[in-house]
Amino acid sequence: NWSMDDFIEMQIEHIREVVGDKKVLLGLSGGVDSSVVGVLLHKAIGTQLTSIFVDHGLLRKNEAEQVMASLSGKFGLNIIQVNAQKRFLDKLTGVSEPEQKRKIIGNEFIQVFNDEAQKLEGIDFLAQGTLYTDVIESGTDTAQTIKSHHNVGGLPEDMHFQLIEPLRTLFKDEARELGEKLGMPHDLVWRQPFPGPGLGIRVIGEITPEKLTIVRDSDAILREEIKKAGLDETIWQYFTVLPGIRSVGVMGDGRTYDYTVGIRAVTSIDGMTADFARIPWGVLQDISVRIVNEVDHVNRIVYDVTSKPPSTIEWE
Ligand code: XMP
Repeated sequence: NWSMDDFIEMQIEHIREVVGDKKVLLGLSGGVDSSVVGVLLHKAIGTQLTSIFVDHGLLRKNEAEQVMASLSGKFGLNIIQVNAQKRFLDKLTGVSEPEQKRKIIGNEFIQVFNDEAQKLEGIDFLAQGTLYTDVIESGTDTAQTIKSHHNVGGLPEDMHFQLIEPLRTLFKDEARELGEKLGMPHDLVWRQPFPGPGLGIRVIGEITPEKLTIVRDSDAILREEIKKAGLDETIWQYFTVLPGIRSVGVMGDGRTYDYTVGIRAVTSIDGMTADFARIPWGVLQDISVRIVNEVDHVNRIVYDVTSKPPSTIEWE
């Protein structure tokens, strides 16, 4: 007779017992899993938890502010925010191959985290938002890697923390339910999946600040319109991509030569397979008009009508 309330109570008791009067460190990504772990741990051990939130500059519009407002402001977590945008961008300059970008972002993430962690003293535990599916997936090294994800592993080698993974037995939906039970806002807990490398794999090819702005601003408009149309909870993932090609258009009396933005929206059960979402034409039209009007240097919008397979959800 398993209930989420029992789970919370048992976990809190267990965490207190294991941690005692020691200190715990948590890496916050802004995603659901690490946020839920943060709130749970805070409930269990309060100020014995310190969190590090690395802003790699590849987050969505206002995302860092929202994470801080909610987790630090509302829930009272002690969060060290690291503004590492420049560090990441410097490392990524001139790099266009997707897997190489992932590797650089993943490695840099660990390094920035390490640098901050090293400034702290007397930490014995490291908390992670590992889910049951992460545990399973990282165990199957026979599976061919199509895209390298970096949710599991990547632990700094020279740090000897003991791991705390309170979500290890939960599926994603259960982690979300747990978050809601802990009083986290519905919007935050039921957010669409967002990849670790963030907008870095949605700017196709080399990442530049200008391209990041285009993908970030167009994505914000897309999300606003999808929510307004009431589609945000039925579509698994929806985002914009910047393929980096430019094409000819006309605006007023003038010729333009500007970027094309792609819209990707899919329905899915688990992300393993996916179908392109049948968004009503009217909604697509509103999105298209707004993006072209409001985002500089965009003069064309295309909608991705491929499923997975043969495509993948992300373009990189
Ligand atoms: P694909 O593009 O492989 O994506 O169909 C399947 C799911 O995984 C997410 N994804 C990632 N998540 N790091 C992550 O944490 C990554 O490098 C990464 N690449 C893809 C993608 O958003 C989708 O939910």
